Amino acid sequence: MADTGAPARAADTKGPDSKVLDSKVLAEAAKRRTFAVISHPDAGKSTLTEALALHASAITQAGAVHGKAGRRGVTSDWMAMERARGISITSAALRFDYHSTMLNLLDTPGHADFSEDTYRVLSAVDCAVMLLDSAKGLEPQTLKLFDVCRSRSVPVITFVNKWDRPGREPLELLDEIEQRIGLRPAPVNWPVGVAGDFRGLIERTTGEYITFTRTPGGAGRALETRLDAEAAAARDGDAFVTAQEELALLDEIYGGLGDAEGRLDDLGMESFLAGLTSPVLFGAALPNFGVRRLLDAVTTYAPPPAMRADIKGEPRPVDAPFSGLVFKVQANMDPAHRDRMAFVRVCSGRFERGMVLTHAATGRPFATKYAQSMFGQDRETVEEAFPGDVIGLVNATALRPGDTLYAGDVPVEFPPIPSFAPEHFAVVRGKEAGKQKQFRRGIEQLDTEGVVQVLASDLRGDQAPVLAAVGPLQFDVVLHRLEHEFGARAELDHLDYTLARRTDADGVRALAGQRAVEVLTRRHDGAILALFSDKWRLGQVQRQHPDMMLELLIAG
Ligand code: G4P
Repeated sequence: MADTGAPARAADTKGPDSKVLDSKVLAEAAKRRTFAVISHPDAGKSTLTEALALHASAITQAGAVHGKAGRRGVTSDWMAMERARGISITSAALRFDYHSTMLNLLDTPGHADFSEDTYRVLSAVDCAVMLLDSAKGLEPQTLKLFDVCRSRSVPVITFVNKWDRPGREPLELLDEIEQRIGLRPAPVNWPVGVAGDFRGLIERTTGEYITFTRTPGGAGRALETRLDAEAAAARDGDAFVTAQEELALLDEIYGGLGDAEGRLDDLGMESFLAGLTSPVLFGAALPNFGVRRLLDAVTTYAPPPAMRADIKGEPRPVDAPFSGLVFKVQANMDPAHRDRMAFVRVCSGRFERGMVLTHAATGRPFATKYAQSMFGQDRETVEEAFPGDVIGLVNATALRPGDTLYAGDVPVEFPPIPSFAPEHFAVVRGKEAGKQKQFRRGIEQLDTEGVVQVLASDLRGDQAPVLAAVGPLQFDVVLHRLEHEFGARAELDHLDYTLARRTDADGVRALAGQRAVEVLTRRHDGAILALFSDKWRLGQVQRQHPDMMLELLIAG
């Protein structure tokens, strides 16, 4: 890479004290667990997020993080849209301490349309909690997200939620996990009482029985009581006996689980990290039952940050000089802070506010004076951060999701985050002639954030670019944000294309004037995309031009 012109302060950590710093970085990295919750909308992700933070003593009353109805209010237009639609569009990065572990929970957007966004988040975590609704088991969005985890080798812990409500048999749920996604379930605890009649949880390795007492509205930590076998049998009679029988069956079907402290044994851990086994826990996020056990599971099973392969396939150790991956960019998250934030996952080294980093894509220096950490909608300045942490960089106009930032003279770049093939296309136009400048600025901004892909051609001109999305809800987000953040009301004209393929200059010539095909250029990287009405039209073109480049654009 060319000389970046970065000042001498560009912090190469390899000075005289580098050994001390390296060991501090390693010790700090070992304390961190960076994870995300993946689930189908409504399975209870927001509720669980709050319950986890509550248990970790980060907040005293559930409801502070996502500002659910009837709890703490939300402030931004952006959030207002999210609330009105009942879906989670924005990503919050939460950070809380649990005993001596620092947990970084990256929120994944909850709607199927935002799989591209979610994909980016999952490239920044070391582990995922797969949340299932006990009545529904594996749902379409869970399956999709699980596939992403598998393709990125992210190990998965399973939490079966809503056990306080009628649901399915626990053994049937385990069987579904094994049969449908080929993941070997390793139950860590076992519910006493069927779903809807939740009596308590038996710890599988120790046999310890824990019952829960609900706090009013589930707003506080549920009280846990430990009972011995005699007291349990006296209290929960048949339900306890049935659970014991099921536990015996589990050993037969799935084998035993780890050591007496409830840890997976070496083999189990290996198979979990390889994505073959998933520890399974039962509970109910709303009344906070079994949530502490899930926190324990995350701290014991989820791997700490490890070395990450760069674009050349070379692993970058966690104690190498600072490097980070931009996994999300978002502007105007809160009207009180009209700015643009890039979320960066620290991959190696120590981040210190004020460092001047290098932006790998352009080779330009990037100042980090305004680094922040987030807690839901609240922000505070971050002075230092270590591998696994997420920092928010303000005024990050040049950064795009997938970009790498690094310190020191030795360039490093992580592989780009692949993007999904768009399936929905629409022309967008500003409604007011006097607001064209705002319109163009807004489109440019949303393109940079990766909210939607922006395609253009000489034929259509700058005033009417084509938007390409994985799901149609992305278009609503574009219109809403253009109007509310940029003051440019816009309208859409949906196009009858459903497929995009990447092509080259020869393809452009051959496709000129073809029916039900259009060639456009993707703004952010100059890729030439051919849009087709459907797979039959694509098939026809492929048969007519067997040598034409028509590359699939798929996350891989
Ligand atoms: P999401 O983020 O995955 O979309 O789900 P969210 O947490 O919003 O939960 C969806 C609904 O399921 C909410 O009810 C929530 O209270 C409920 N829920 C979550 N976990 C549990 C649980 O363990 N037990 C029971 N019984 N319910 C649970 P809602 O009525 O849609 O919303 P709200 O008015 O309660 O916020």
